[in-house]
Amino acid sequence: MKDFKGKIAFITGGGSGAGLGQAKVFAKAGMKVVIADVRRDALHKAVGEIVDYAGCKVTDVLPLCFDLTDRAAYTEAADTVEKIFGGPPHLLIQTAGVNSFGPAEASTFDDFDWIVGVCFNHVVNGLVIFVPRMIKAYGGRDGVPKEEFHVVTTSSMGGFNGMAMTTPYCAAKAAANNLMYSYDEALRPYGGGATVLCPENINSNIGNAEKFRPAEYHNTGYYVTEGTMKHLMNVHAHGIDPIELALILKEGIESGRIIVLPYADRSTWAGVLKAQHERIEQYLLTAEERDEIARSLPPFEIPDLIAIPPEGGERFGMARKDLDYVLPERKPQG
Ligand code: NAI
Repeated sequence: MKDFKGKIAFITGGGSGAGLGQAKVFAKAGMKVVIADVRRDALHKAVGEIVDYAGCKVTDVLPLCFDLTDRAAYTEAADTVEKIFGGPPHLLIQTAGVNSFGPAEASTFDDFDWIVGVCFNHVVNGLVIFVPRMIKAYGGRDGVPKEEFHVVTTSSMGGFNGMAMTTPYCAAKAAANNLMYSYDEALRPYGGGATVLCPENINSNIGNAEKFRPAEYHNTGYYVTEGTMKHLMNVHAHGIDPIELALILKEGIESGRIIVLPYADRSTWAGVLKAQHERIEQYLLTAEERDEIARSLPPFEIPDLIAIPPEGGERFGMARKDLDYVLPERKPQG
């Protein structure tokens, strides 16, 4: 997809962070932009920011407040977009996400249901609801669309890895990556395509996600306090700027890339993916062979930004204190 002017973008998680950056960049590229988010106050503020950044009309930005895991509400939102902007989106960017940190063995069903629900199921919802509408409106034959269209998911570098401290998230993101490879193959004959954006660290509000965890998923196995959220927010404050990330994504869509990594300098890409592949290749080795490799490497040191909480912060990634089967070093001391 190369021509964005006058077309429609639907961006989930558009009230904050990466999704808001994407809304600003694609509004500036001349698109009508729908921002879907569960946080009404964030959406309200986002509209003004998008109009200021893009210099567009306020009527070109449509905020829709609903829970993206609610299929009926998502379908209603899709109908509203067609009614107001005259068609389904040409560009569907599903960016909403949540995360929480704690040892895999402490994870509860609520942890999985909340995190996988937003990071993976909402992406499925958007694809099932919008892709048939997009094909009917814009799809062509033999790889030539009637009008250009494209689907995007904001996943994570975590989608290439397993990580014991953020397991439901990595599993959901790995599934989201895989989903986009399949959708790209499926959409090509109609002239569409798919892209998965895999950022590393974004300057966003995701460190506060636990503040908005729905009550129905309250039973977490992780140790979560104002202090752990403060520590996480400090880590994310050192991440990439959402506008810079959105510009990298835009280039990726224009160039038909299926995976987009968060570096403007493409020479970094191969190195990053090679490291991920090497890690997976090591899973094929015996335990003894893996131990030998581990012994040959310098000991892994957790970066200070992650290991040391800022003033008033607390270490994140621990289990709830009362989980007596979890190793003591994986629980907060005292
Ligand atoms: P953010 O917290 O600033 O924005 C996420 C938005 O999603 C929020 O506005 C939130 O209200 C919305 N949301 C959450 N659950 C929702 C639901 N059920 N229905 C509707 N809206 C919902 O976080 P950020 O960092 O901008 O996250 C965007 C994406 O980037 C996520 O998919 C995240 O997993 C991914 N990502 C973030 C990284 C980071 O370091 N912040 C790193 C790699 C990937």
